[in-house]
Amino acid sequence: METKVLIIGANGQLGLVLTKALQDKYGVENVIASDLRENDKYDGVFEIIDATDRDRIEEIVDKYQITQIYHLAAILSAKGEENPLGTWDINMKTLFNVLEVSRKKHIDRVFFPSSIAVFGESAPLKNTPGDAYLNPATVYGISKAAGENWAQYYFLKYGLDVRSIRYPGVIGYQSLPGGGTTDYAVDIYHKAVLGQEFSCFLKEETTLPMIFMDDAIRATIELMETPKEKIKIRTSYNVAGISFSPDEVVTEIRKLYPDFKVNYKPDFRQEIASKWPESIDDSLATKDWGWKPHYNLKDITEVMIKNLKEKYKTEYI
Ligand code: SER
Repeated sequence: METKVLIIGANGQLGLVLTKALQDKYGVENVIASDLRENDKYDGVFEIIDATDRDRIEEIVDKYQITQIYHLAAILSAKGEENPLGTWDINMKTLFNVLEVSRKKHIDRVFFPSSIAVFGESAPLKNTPGDAYLNPATVYGISKAAGENWAQYYFLKYGLDVRSIRYPGVIGYQSLPGGGTTDYAVDIYHKAVLGQEFSCFLKEETTLPMIFMDDAIRATIELMETPKEKIKIRTSYNVAGISFSPDEVVTEIRKLYPDFKVNYKPDFRQEIASKWPESIDDSLATKDWGWKPHYNLKDITEVMIKNLKEKYKTEYI
């Protein structure tokens, strides 16, 4: 059967880039991008879907004979704290809708992104294992931890092939994150290229796990292509890229922009970050489906700056 992919939340940081990667892989006509609002950032098939509306998801699944769903829509860690119950409602309702439609329509494979936000104070800070105790402190983290267990439940009870990755903070030049605690690591490159001072909402020594966009997309596609019997974890796989603090990114950026100015004004996001791991153990992803990151901080910095310079065409060129 031909693969027909539906992406829910295609306008988001990952969605924009993943949609293009899947179009390259399966053909533009076989990838249906969807979100609350249309955008003009890529060619191809687009449908408006509010994922809290189960009937609408079902309608699009029927219309295009969808075989795979990537459910990327969610409210992230920092934004989610503004309205805890509303965030829970949206994050869970959209997931249940995707799981239910997928079960009913016999969808082949479902992708559900999880996050390092599932970890809380009880997990070791360094090299956090995948099976550490989960006591997340944000509503986003609670919704992802619950979502992972629901994903596993649908697999065990109904045989639905749901796969999941716990992403670190994702860094890319193609799109902007929104509402996350790791967003500073994208914004900082924009400010450097624009010649502006950067005000950092985390303390300079706050180390968090991060991943370059290319690695994150490759991890997603590699996981989704792995033969079913090799997927041993049905909650979610830890996937690591690298780990760094704001101070380390600044040092790297100053190799290219020696006058780059930064000030530190930690806000409530510092509290969120302080409960997340500094680094995570992704050895099970390596063992089960061969995961290996390619980009270190130096590579990320070079690629980010090269591409953002191109994007902004600033006087620094
Ligand atoms: N990048 C996300 C956030 O900061 C973590 O999944 O909320």
